[in-house]
Amino acid sequence: MENSVKRYNRVQIILHWLIAAIIFGMIALGLFMIELPKQSELPPGEESVRAFYFLLHKSMGITVAMLIVLRVLWRLTHKAPVLPDTISKWQQKAAGAVHILLYAVMVAMPLSGYAQSMFSKYHTKFWGIELPRLAEADTEMRELFSQVHECLAFLLIGLIVVHLAAAIKHRIAGNGISERMSLK
Ligand code: HEM
Ligand code: HEM
Repeated sequence: MENSVKRYNRVQIILHWLIAAIIFGMIALGLFMIELPKQSELPPGEESVRAFYFLLHKSMGITVAMLIVLRVLWRLTHKAPVLPDTISKWQQKAAGAVHILLYAVMVAMPLSGYAQSMFSKYHTKFWGIELPRLAEADTEMRELFSQVHECLAFLLIGLIVVHLAAAIKHRIAGNGISERMSLK
């Protein structure tokens, strides 16, 4: 009888940790950069670093979006390994729901960020390459997508807390679930 817990495959594991690390960085960078003073708020002679961090956030955000597309395509063509029967039905359903929400927010985050950037008066650059403007600058639309991006960021943080709590619970229980995604 098979009693070892089935694991995710190598590609899923590498993409999971690479994207998770970048997302942690993106959340920290986003929260840090919005507090930086604008050029107009600084005394003459002092230069604002705000634009530098905004451009870094946008380039990193578009990069992680590409990895997320790859991950979603991989996931659509490769099933998750089945959970053992020792995990109750409600826990399997809860895990499935949180994972779907994590995927949905992972996709919506860069889209809303890109939309607010398109509607702002500033350029959207990808590691120095200026991207074509898809829409005219529009303050109301920029504000709308800025709010969407912010709400999604807090939803994402909430989902990660639940996800992490479940991973820790399984690690303490020693049931092999958290090892399904471990790099070893
Ligand atoms: C997974 C990807 C992303 C994550 C986790 C993320 C996270 C965040 C967070 C936590 C903030 C600060 C809270 C807020 O005011 O919204 C923020 C702000 C911002 N993000 Fe993102 N972001 C992502 C992708 C992007 C992309 C792709 C762009 C644009 C190309 C972008 C553009 C912005 C801008 C312009 C702000 C400042 C908002 C403002 O001034 O109100 N983000 N992001
Ligand atoms: C330190 C933080 C994290 C830990 C310890 C962790 C751990 C895990 C583990 C153990 C699994 C496998 C669950 C199972 O066996 O059914 C998993 C799956 C998953 N994780 Fe994480 N994770 C972390 C961060 C993240 C982040 C930041 C995201 C995305 C924003 C994320 C998204 C997902 C998704 C979508 C799945 C489901 C994979 C699938 O079935 O396709 N995780 N995680």
